[in-house]
Amino acid sequence: MAAQAASLDIDLFDAETRDAPYAAYRRLRDAGPVCHIERHGLYAMGRYRDLRDALINWNDFSSGSGVAMNDLMNRLMAGTVLASDPPEHKRLRRILGMPIGPARLRKLRPHMRGLAMERVKALKGAGRFDAMRRLAMLLPLSVVSDLVGLPEEGRERMLDWAAAAFNGMAPAGVPLSDGAFPVMKEMVDYITDPGLIGKLRPDGWAAQLWASVADGTLTEEEYRSIIQGYVSPSLDTTIFAVGNLLWLLATHPDQWRALKAAPALQARCINESLRYESPALGFSRLAKRDLVIDGVAVPAGARIMTVLPAANRDERHYADPERFDIRRDASDHLAFGGGVHRCIGGSLAMLEIGAVLEALVELVDHIEPGDGRRADNAVLRGFDHLEISLH
Ligand code: HEM
Repeated sequence: MAAQAASLDIDLFDAETRDAPYAAYRRLRDAGPVCHIERHGLYAMGRYRDLRDALINWNDFSSGSGVAMNDLMNRLMAGTVLASDPPEHKRLRRILGMPIGPARLRKLRPHMRGLAMERVKALKGAGRFDAMRRLAMLLPLSVVSDLVGLPEEGRERMLDWAAAAFNGMAPAGVPLSDGAFPVMKEMVDYITDPGLIGKLRPDGWAAQLWASVADGTLTEEEYRSIIQGYVSPSLDTTIFAVGNLLWLLATHPDQWRALKAAPALQARCINESLRYESPALGFSRLAKRDLVIDGVAVPAGARIMTVLPAANRDERHYADPERFDIRRDASDHLAFGGGVHRCIGGSLAMLEIGAVLEALVELVDHIEPGDGRRADNAVLRGFDHLEISLH
């Protein structure tokens, strides 16, 4: 007979836990393959193997009624690629993925590399600067503006909208989540404004998609959901990933030296930074039937949080997981999720992060850390402000 899930008295969303979450994640893993967290009205999974298997099993662990941890956000997400199950999911994902397939990304690489090299050259030797604003934001913002092709106005609010889209994922009652909805409404109003169409860059992804609406292959609803798919999940995730990588390299000079000595380790270094400091703290799935997860029962209808960074530090899967080690092959990390919903922008994000890292390795000898302030986001981990200097 299956065991009952252990009940855990932890708050995964309070400021203290978000600031230093790894002890809570260890408690989650040690308490069982799936635990009940009453205060959030959720179950949660943090062990690598069980979580990876659950992400693959979309039939039992469904995204179709949303992957947020509150009903309001799940209603708002209805019809998006993130909040759908196959077969609907497959169609949306195919269209969304067109401009970010391998061949298109290969063509983008020199452009990204050029932007990163120019910026690092300008920042090197220029004293302390906020790496979030001056370096980490550069490529993600350029993707939304230059490639998706959204107009100038609204751009300055884009980051607030993207942050709100993640804050809105947290359980009801978490203050950051409750405050997110008015800001998100602004984004929906912006994207659904008919006046926006005439202002799109003619050669951008948005304009090309709109052409599919005009020829009847895409509905307006699908168009909007795909545009949101390029904006909300692509900014803070990648910005935080670049910031986390900079912070890790600045505070682990031995690892930076190892990278300088062996630049071929760059891909490993990026994967290890995503494993060690995963930007997305997790989403959720709905149990479609009574489930047994590694001997522990979860009732049909339960919402289960997928605590990705907990799995990425699981000692059952990674040797010495608390050590940041750029020589480790961590390419199987779950920072991009897994299964059919594995981040479709993962390769684009790797390209953006890679362009910055390549410029640093080529041009910089030493990264000096300064003060940092963590961003106040319910389901993303990263810096709001991070001072460094490049020598
Ligand atoms: C380091 C940066 C990024 C991280 C850590 C990240 C993380 C994730 C994760 C964990 C998921 C899976 C959600 C789930 O299982 O329910 C996901 C899905 C998704 N991501 Fe990313 N992401 C990043 C960058 C991007 C970028 C640059 C884009 C731009 C296109 C993007 C667009 C999406 C979309 C559209 C989905 C939904 C895919 C689906 O449901 O099939 N992400 N991301």
